[in-house]
Amino acid sequence: MKNLYNALNLKKLLTLKELGFNFIDPIEEFKESNIELPNNLQSLKKIANSCHLCQLSKSRTNVVFGEGNEKAQLMFVGEGPGATEDATGRPFVGRAGELLTKMIENVLYIKRSEVYIANIVKCRPPNNRTPTPTEALTCRPYLLKQIEIIKPKLIVALGSTAYRYLTNDNTPISKIRGNIIDLKDFSLIATYHPSYLLRNPSAKKEAYVDMLKVKEFLNL
Ligand code: URA
Repeated sequence: MKNLYNALNLKKLLTLKELGFNFIDPIEEFKESNIELPNNLQSLKKIANSCHLCQLSKSRTNVVFGEGNEKAQLMFVGEGPGATEDATGRPFVGRAGELLTKMIENVLYIKRSEVYIANIVKCRPPNNRTPTPTEALTCRPYLLKQIEIIKPKLIVALGSTAYRYLTNDNTPISKIRGNIIDLKDFSLIATYHPSYLLRNPSAKKEAYVDMLKVKEFLNL
């Protein structure tokens, strides 16, 4: 039914295009239309759950909004859901998630439920590819709103995609990891993505050092 509805809408749009109307870039529309997102996580989640602003919505099973302590002083941001996250609707619950949970519980000595965990994109990119800039930028208002509501003191960017879209900086992760960066409303530290650590176990030493910096910064 939904497919038929979408097909009819698409047909209408194509007819309008033939008549000379132009399509508007969804990102520009999002930025310029000044859509007010709600200031509480429940309402924001409802909107994100029915989002169809980018093509990832077509192939997702579940929107992976994020989870954890809504008043967390520490937030982790990954790249995007994988297969297990897409199937369950929860962030970081596959193999990379198990490693992230160990980093939180065995290095920081806090429970995973004490932090908040989210991603740059809330829907799984097919075959776990890197989200495109359009997908990441279209989804970013949801993440920025989550950050605004949660008000973490420190965000750990997991991997280069998270770092890039949180800071607009393209510096390679190997160059900036472990540095605490002061941004306007929060501080940020980047470290290797847990999936990278699974593929490159020798980098775990550096990620461990980064986690110790997190611990020291927050007096955990
Ligand atoms: N990788 C991510 O970046 N995020 C998840 O939620 C899971 C794996």
